This record gives sequence, structure tokens and C-alpha cells, in this order.
Amino acid sequence: MTGETRVVTTRASLRGAYDALPAGTRRAVVPTMGSLHDGHAMLVHEARRLVGPDGHVTVTIFVNPTQFSANEDLARYPRSLEKDVETCAHEGADLVFAPTPDTIYRDAGPGLVTVDPGPLGTVLEGAIRPGHFRGMLTVVHKLLALTGAHHAMFGEKDYQQLVLVRRMVRDLDIGSEIVAVPTVRAKDGLALSSRNAYLSPAERHLALVVPQSIEVGRTIARTGGDAIDVVREVQRFLDEHGVVADYATVTDPELGPAPESGEARLLVAVRVGDVRLIDNDRLDLGALA
Ligand code: PAJ
Repeated sequence: MTGETRVVTTRASLRGAYDALPAGTRRAVVPTMGSLHDGHAMLVHEARRLVGPDGHVTVTIFVNPTQFSANEDLARYPRSLEKDVETCAHEGADLVFAPTPDTIYRDAGPGLVTVDPGPLGTVLEGAIRPGHFRGMLTVVHKLLALTGAHHAMFGEKDYQQLVLVRRMVRDLDIGSEIVAVPTVRAKDGLALSSRNAYLSPAERHLALVVPQSIEVGRTIARTGGDAIDVVREVQRFLDEHGVVADYATVTDPELGPAPESGEARLLVAVRVGDVRLIDNDRLDLGALA
């Protein structure tokens, strides 16, 4: 579906767009940092499917400074608003909200009130990127409050982010339903990510060991291995290919300790050159027991 997609940048114009809708219109929001690829497009597609032709879909495009640390890639983060708006139109979005940092944070400065991610914010990605999840949850809280959306779409690709957003919505009684969308992959299995653009051709090839390592883990689980077996074999596979893992771990679906049997999550983070790549998938442990 390709239709009209309006672009607004201010709080007042966002509110104005919603005020003009018929009462009771179902609204979904897709928070993004832009530089949209087919993974983001799938979130917009699913949002449209969820609210139907009479519903309303907003895509937010905002490269959120508070979730980048000083040594991260805020300045070089890819930006492509015009092309992004085309992608949104192609997937049937009604509205793009593309605010500036001043619009989102006004003159908050160091006194900014933020969302505390709790203990889950300091493990895995949170251990490597201190402050990342506080910044992420703070802006997601703002975007949910500003849009007042009934549904908000998040990708399983960023699994810890998805779990934390769900926790925030539950623990802080936010009225939006969080909808998870499965990871969209390139034909060869690599999870789509804006950061893939930084990979050289040789690094892009090496990056395939990430989805392959997840497959190794799933095979171990399928043939009766437990969480320890899975982690050992995933680690061995990454080592064999000379890829440095920040972590390779098995948890329960809420990122707690791995269960002996039943649904679990395998999460892998590596560095290829100076690009960090993350991936994850569901495991079913103890299936043969
Ligand atoms: P960004 O990295 O732009 O991702 C926006 C959304 O797209 C997230 O929910 C992410 O999980 C999802 N996504 C990215 N790659 C995907 C893929 N290959 N398949 C499916 N979904 C995918 O995540 C953020 O932005 C920010 O942290 C944000 C939530 C917008 C807050 O600033």
C-alpha cells in the first residue's frame, strides 16, 4: 500500500494530527532511529496490519542522543529522512514524527528525570553500554506518552530492549500494548541492522558466523543439550572462526537464569572489526528429556 505520509516535527503538529482523527481510531506507533531497512519496514507493515485500514500508524524517527555514550557512534549514525519517508509511505504509514533533540528534551540538561531500567539494564548489552538502556527507556517513555498509541511495535532483533520496554510498560502502568515482531534477515541469514552498512565486504562475510552460531546452539538444544552445552558449543564455533564474543548466553524468555527445560533464549554479541553485532533466537530446552 502506498499512500500519503505526512511528516511532522513539533509536539503541536503531532497533537494536531491526532486531534483530527475520528474518535476511537486505533493507533499504532513504530519507534525508530531512521536509516530504515526491511526490518523496520516489517514493523510498519505489522502495525498497519494490526490497526487495519481505518487505523492510524505513526513512525517516529529520532536518533536519541541519550542512549549513545561518549565513545559511541552518535555523530556518524546514518541519516536518510527522505528515503525513510518513502519507505514509510510504501508500508502504509500515515504519519512520520521526526523531532529534533531540542523538541524531545527541551532545556532538560543534567537535571533530566529518567527511567531506571533496574537490574536488567546492567547485564548483557547494559554491561557493555553503560547508560544505554536508561536513555532508551526514557525516550521510549516519552514517545509513548507523546503519541498515546494503543500499540507499539518492537523488533525481537534487540531482544533485551524488547524485554525492558515490556517491563517498563508493566511496572510503570503505561497503557500501550507492546507488540514483538520477529527478526528480519538477509537471504544468507544475517539479521538486518543499520550498523551492517559499516562492514567491509570481508567483514560482511565473516559476520555470517553470528547467525550460524545461533543455528549451532539451536541444533544442540534440539538434540538434547542443556544451556551449558549450548553456550559451550556456540563459544567454540565463534572461537574457531576467530570472532570475539562480548557474550554468548542462554536465559529464560525474561532474561532470567536459563531453565532446565522449556522455552529459553540464546543471545550472542560479537565484534567484527569495530562493528558490534547482536543476534538472538528462541531455544526449546529439554525437548528430548
Ligand atoms: P532502531 O535501531 O532504529 O530500531 C527500531 C526498531 O526496529 C526496534 O524495535 C528494533 O528492534 C527493530 N529492528 C531493527 N532491526 C530489525 C530486524 N532485522 N528485524 C526486525 N526488527 C528490527 O531500537 C531503536 O532504534 C531505538 O533504541 C529506539 C527503540 C527507537 C529508541 O530510541
